[in-house]
Amino acid sequence: MVASPDLFNFTMEEKVDTKFILNKKISKPLSCLATYSPSVAKILDGEIDIILVGDSVGSTLYDMKNSRGVTLEMMRNHGLAVNKNIKKSITMLDMPYRTYRNETQAFKNSLYLLKNTKAQLLKLEIDEKNIHILKYLCEKNLKIVAHIGVTPQSFNDFKKIKVVGKNSIEKNKLISLALKAQSVGAEAILLECVSQNVAKEITYKLNIPTIGIGSSKYCDGQILVFDDIVKFDNTKNNPKFVKRYLNLEKLIKKAVKSFNKDVQDKKYPNKKYSYQ
Ligand code: KIV
Repeated sequence: MVASPDLFNFTMEEKVDTKFILNKKISKPLSCLATYSPSVAKILDGEIDIILVGDSVGSTLYDMKNSRGVTLEMMRNHGLAVNKNIKKSITMLDMPYRTYRNETQAFKNSLYLLKNTKAQLLKLEIDEKNIHILKYLCEKNLKIVAHIGVTPQSFNDFKKIKVVGKNSIEKNKLISLALKAQSVGAEAILLECVSQNVAKEITYKLNIPTIGIGSSKYCDGQILVFDDIVKFDNTKNNPKFVKRYLNLEKLIKKAVKSFNKDVQDKKYPNKKYSYQ
């Protein structure tokens, strides 16, 4: 999908002060969650610094085996629905697979998402080969978070994902990439499945915040998927870093069983729930 040229007239609206929140590097850890649902966004708003509409929407909601099938339209629709319900937190959107293959395409598609959703930040999966795209978007004054380490869009099969930065070649590559991303203007760096020592060193070396997922407590912030932390996902084997804070699946089952029993026992709807 390619956006129309009238998008170039677009100027970013600042709903919340992203600089203020992202400057929390020194003062307090950033807490971030991914969601695709407006009702969840409403609950998270103001509780969480950054709400990501991630391309994990593909595997979480659409039963896709990876994030490659996620389209610009899906990100626009979920991004718009989510961001309408966010007043205090920062909204960040993922740029989907193959929507930022060259500078012109990346710029048009970024503007398309930002204009149509009014999100503040975009997140792009960055490596040595596409860092010029990050530079280009930052020069155009777009606010971009660079996702490095394990970059899920490079994987056909999520089962092949493993921690990176364990050997010195990977370590040096990651550190150099993080420094380059900062120097070309990234707002923050998301580190996915990066080994503890490397995440710690990158966080120490950078002035911009690092946000970790499976990348140790040494990052300036942490991100997880909301559905994972409340056990409302359809994934059987979650990665090691997923901590369950609630078993929503169990609570929903209980509610559904009670509803079913009420229906079978003709207890629902009683007078209270019926129009006379
Ligand atoms: O798509 C996603 O949800 C992500 C993670 C970092 C949570 O990119």
